[in-house]
Amino acid sequence: MNPEKSLPRRSFLLGAGALGGSAVALSACAGPGQDAAASSAAAGPAVPAGTPVRVGKLSDVQVGGSASGKVNGKAVVVFRPTENTVVAYDAACTHAGCPVAPAGGEFDCPCHGSSFKGSDGSVITGPARAPLGKLQAAVDGEWITVSA
Ligand code: FES
Repeated sequence: MNPEKSLPRRSFLLGAGALGGSAVALSACAGPGQDAAASSAAAGPAVPAGTPVRVGKLSDVQVGGSASGKVNGKAVVVFRPTENTVVAYDAACTHAGCPVAPAGGEFDCPCHGSSFKGSDGSVITGPARAPLGKLQAAVDGEWITVSA
């Protein structure tokens, strides 16, 4: 087993969200060699589709680390490739739709073992063949925003 995949994950209570007033739960997985701890999660009212929603604080996701959460009830995953950039994907595995989970710099599917790169969502290990669906993500001050 890849040691980075065995790191503990952490969850965050991300306050009321955001641009549209939605609170979203984000749980993060530390990158290689990074510490992880625990906290909790929350949910709130939905906002119109496509509205950027604060999914968590940038400081909650380590550089090289990943996180998961929900935006408007849709499962999303986030990867932070650099200090000031983030990328986000629909968490639905492209094989059969199970939600993928953060695993350091990757996202792993618990159903049939597919894994995807955090940096671009491409397939590392099948049976999935197509990359994760990319979503709009941005850094807005101290927040990560995702449109879903
Ligand atoms: Fe993800 Fe099958 S649903 S590998």
